[in-house]
Amino acid sequence: MKRENTGAPARTSIRLRTEEDLDACVRVLAAVHESDGYPVNWPDEPGGWLSQSSLLTAWVAERDGRVVGHVALSRDEPGDLAPGLWRARRDANAVTAVVSRLFVAPEARGNGIGALLLTRASQDAGRRGLHPVLDVVATDRAAAALYERQGWQRLATAEQRWSPDRTVTVHAYAAATSPAL
Ligand SMILES: CC(C)(COP(=O)(O)OP(=O)(O)OC[C@H]1O[C@@H](n2cnc3c(N)ncnc32)[C@H](O)[C@@H]1OP(=O)(O)O)[C@@H](O)C(=O)NCCC(=O)NCCS
Repeated sequence: MKRENTGAPARTSIRLRTEEDLDACVRVLAAVHESDGYPVNWPDEPGGWLSQSSLLTAWVAERDGRVVGHVALSRDEPGDLAPGLWRARRDANAVTAVVSRLFVAPEARGNGIGALLLTRASQDAGRRGLHPVLDVVATDRAAAALYERQGWQRLATAEQRWSPDRTVTVHAYAAATSPAL
C-alpha cells in the first residue's frame, strides 16, 4: 500500500471538523473509552465535551470516508498544568494553545493517524503564534509515547485531584520548538 512520509495510508485525510461530524466523533470516543479508559470520566454530554468553550479549532481524520480520529486545539483552561509550566520555564508572557481531545479509533491505530492529527494541531498553533502544550494522564502510555516520538518535552509530572475520591497522575508536555509552518 502506498504510504505518505508519516507512515499513514494515502487514503487517510485530516480535515476541519464540522457540526455534522460530532455524532461520528462521539461514537469513536465511546469505543476509545471502552478500550482505553479515555477520557477517564465519561462526560454527561460527550458532544459538548468535544466542543468546550475554550475550543479554537478541531479536526477529524477520515479514512475511506469514515471518521476514525479527532484532535482539538484550545485556549488554556483553569487546571491545565502545562501552560503555566511552559511560561515559568521559557517566558512569563508566552502564549500557549492546548492540544486536547486526541483519539484514534482502536481499529485504525498504528497507521500514523495520531501523528498526523498532532502535527496538524501543532502547526495551527504555530500559525496563531501560540506554543502547543498539553496534559496527558500517565496511564495513556501510547499517547505519551507518541508525544515523545514527535519531539515533545515532558515538563513535569503531578498528581491532580479530579474528584473527592480520585487522584490522577498527569504528565505535562510542550512541543520542543515552534512547529514549522
Ligand atoms: C494516542 C493515540 C491517539 C495514537 O494513535 P495512533 O493513530 O495509533 O498513533 P500513531 O500511529 O501515529 O502512533 C502509534 C505509535 O504508538 C506505538 N504504541 C502503541 N501503543 C503503545 C504503548 N502502549 N506504549 C508505547 N508505544 C505504543 C505504536 O507502536 C506506534 O509506534 P510507531 O509509529 O513507532 O510504529 C491512540 O493510541 C489513542 O487514541 N489512545 C487513546 C486516547 C488517548 O490516550 N488520548 C490522549 C489524550 S491526551
